[in-house]
Amino acid sequence: IHSEVFDSSSEASNSVAMEIANLIQEKEEKGEMCVLGLATGSSPTSVYNELVRMHKEEGLSFKNVVTFNLDEYFPMEPDSLQSYVRFMNEYLFDHVDIKKENIHIPDGTLPYELVESFCQEYEKKIKALGGIDLQVLGIGRTGHIGFNEPGSHINSKTRMISLDHITRLDAASDFFGEENVPRRAITMGVGTIMQAKRLILMAWGEGKAQIIHRTVEGEVSDSVPATYLQKHTNATIVLDEAAAAELT
Ligand code: F6R
Repeated sequence: IHSEVFDSSSEASNSVAMEIANLIQEKEEKGEMCVLGLATGSSPTSVYNELVRMHKEEGLSFKNVVTFNLDEYFPMEPDSLQSYVRFMNEYLFDHVDIKKENIHIPDGTLPYELVESFCQEYEKKIKALGGIDLQVLGIGRTGHIGFNEPGSHINSKTRMISLDHITRLDAASDFFGEENVPRRAITMGVGTIMQAKRLILMAWGEGKAQIIHRTVEGEVSDSVPATYLQKHTNATIVLDEAAAAELT
């Protein structure tokens, strides 16, 4: 697995945004749709800011872009403060010319018994579009990608999962207390992620240094799901100096 270390997260984010913009434009020139897999959380926010800037100042168009978000809490109303639907609208979708019907985010409002068929449909939609061209990832302190917590199988598909205790602890401040953090989420599987043609995982800050060390240099194991990326042929881990601090 290839890792790239930048002086700052903003330089790193600009380079990721540039790769995404180039791919969108390449696809546009060929008359093709560009299928992006997107993450929420603090890691990709500067990438989205830069993409919005490129749209406003440089005419980057999202008319040929289809997106699939990695995950959503369950249950979750789209207009809640912590909703990933709301997050994506605020950071990206409300500010670019993407078509509403091309946006896909796991639905946190479904009745429990409809979740499984929703997840199967999510997988089918990705396949029908020829798969994800580029998937953006963050990493949790548990080593989760999407919400694939330790124990997730390499072939897992989109499904309902239980969030790890550490993940709920890390989300506690967003929810004004750990007891308010949902216990479950819907997430794309490790297998769904591994089928993307290109993977870019971003991590910033010293809080991620240890899990990045285990991800890049540790043995591949379901106890750190991000280690599965070592088996992908086109994955890059993009880091700032602090997140790279424990790499040898
Ligand atoms: C979010 C997601 C998660 C986050 C991870 C890191 O859609 O899939 O895996 O990427 O929890 O979160 P931040 O970036 O907030 O540190």
